[in-house]
Amino acid sequence: MTRQNVTVGERLLASVGTEQGLAAMLASLREYKAELTEVRPPREELVEGYAALMARAGKARGRALLYPYIGSGLGNGALVELADGSVKWDMICGIGVHFFGHSDEGLIRETVLGSMGDTVMHGNLQSGFEPYEFSEILLEEAGKGSRLEHCFVAASGALVNENALKLCYQKHNAAPRVIVFQDCFMGRTVTMSQIGDAAGNRIGLPLSTLVDYMPFYDEAAAVETGMERQIEIARDHLLAILRRYPNQHSCFVFELVQGEGGFRTAPREFFVALMEVCREHGIAVWVDEIQTFGRTTSMFAYDGLGLGEYVDLVTVGKMTQVCATLFTEAYNPGPGLLSATFTGSGGACKAGSYVLRSLRDGNYYGTDGRIAQHHGAFVAQTEALIAKHPEWFGPIDSGRLSPAPAGLVGGWGGMMRLSPFGGSKEMVGKALRACMEEGVILFSCGHGPYHLRMLPPLGVMKLEDWPRVFACVERGLAKAAGS
Ligand SMILES: Cc1ncc(COP(=O)(O)O)c(C=O)c1O
Repeated sequence: MTRQNVTVGERLLASVGTEQGLAAMLASLREYKAELTEVRPPREELVEGYAALMARAGKARGRALLYPYIGSGLGNGALVELADGSVKWDMICGIGVHFFGHSDEGLIRETVLGSMGDTVMHGNLQSGFEPYEFSEILLEEAGKGSRLEHCFVAASGALVNENALKLCYQKHNAAPRVIVFQDCFMGRTVTMSQIGDAAGNRIGLPLSTLVDYMPFYDEAAAVETGMERQIEIARDHLLAILRRYPNQHSCFVFELVQGEGGFRTAPREFFVALMEVCREHGIAVWVDEIQTFGRTTSMFAYDGLGLGEYVDLVTVGKMTQVCATLFTEAYNPGPGLLSATFTGSGGACKAGSYVLRSLRDGNYYGTDGRIAQHHGAFVAQTEALIAKHPEWFGPIDSGRLSPAPAGLVGGWGGMMRLSPFGGSKEMVGKALRACMEEGVILFSCGHGPYHLRMLPPLGVMKLEDWPRVFACVERGLAKAAGS
């Protein structure tokens, strides 16, 4: 394109002034973030003010913060500075959002450029091309292994799940029932809170959505009975649901690695058996990749499991910065079904495209990719910790609602689980708080047994960071155990 063929808006973004301004900002960013190289305790003179901030935040939202976390606005890769001046390893990243860590130059550059647009937000009625560029990149990747052809952008995971559900209902003549796995999580709109399998998330909500729950793959039982038997149990369960309510199901929502549910996954054969049944019965196969996207050993987890031929809809979010519902032509809805004032901010859309390109071009995937290497380093560190402190790692108590996983360490790729203290809710909660005090931010998953979970910023982490992270984890677990 020659200079004459570009719009004034494009010239502004490519102008010397914009470039110089960005260069100055990024140089400053580099200088300041270079100060954050180690875990640090809170600064004494900031402790009181920090407690006051926490109290103000709690008062504003009507409930104390779950974690004593308020960011200062600066970080360096996997390290983040809090408003009390402490520096910590961030191994949970806003529950999986900040895959490129804190104060990433590339992301900040894109966000600033996106923010120089004429409006803060893009919308469905009036928009720049940014949300569609994001959609095109995503669809190009999805199209390599599936029939997904279209993409509708929205601002949160729960919203893109709502949109996917509408597409399923409309395509299947308003068949009212939804099938999901026990322990699934889908977001917190009125409908998603009903479908998600956590009693606490639907207290006080009238139940208007018809949901059937399927048992997830029982990894520990499969060790005893063999995989085939577990598949047979699940298939029979699904067929029983379909016999009970013939022609009343619009979709089966699959979380291929259960996120909130405990970082459990299953072999390809398990999913294929259930997806085949869906196909035979004309039920949409919808894969919720809001937590898995980008993070396993393939960009889409369904690709890693070789399930692309089955998927009718996929939802993505978190690390993509804006969220999306992808769907095949058969699910393309009539006019009026999907819209909203906003799609996303200019900064978020541009950042989303940058994330997708970085994932695509960055040697992340495959058995030797960066993500697999990090998972290997995580497992090695956890196994060394278990060997050093077997007293913290007794057998997982399986006498609870959900089946226990087969081992003390697990997950897939950048979804990492370790299971100390027998999966006890109280002890895992204690461990989380102690680890935070010792300089590493983690979170839990599972509904009993409970586990420690990491969604680390593998886009910026180095393999040599792992021993430093685990030094904090070890101190935190020791504190929790009272040793
Ligand atoms: C699998 C899954 N689906 C949906 C959601 C909801 O996404 P959001 O919190 O952005 O609404 C989440 C969030 O954790 C999730 O893990």
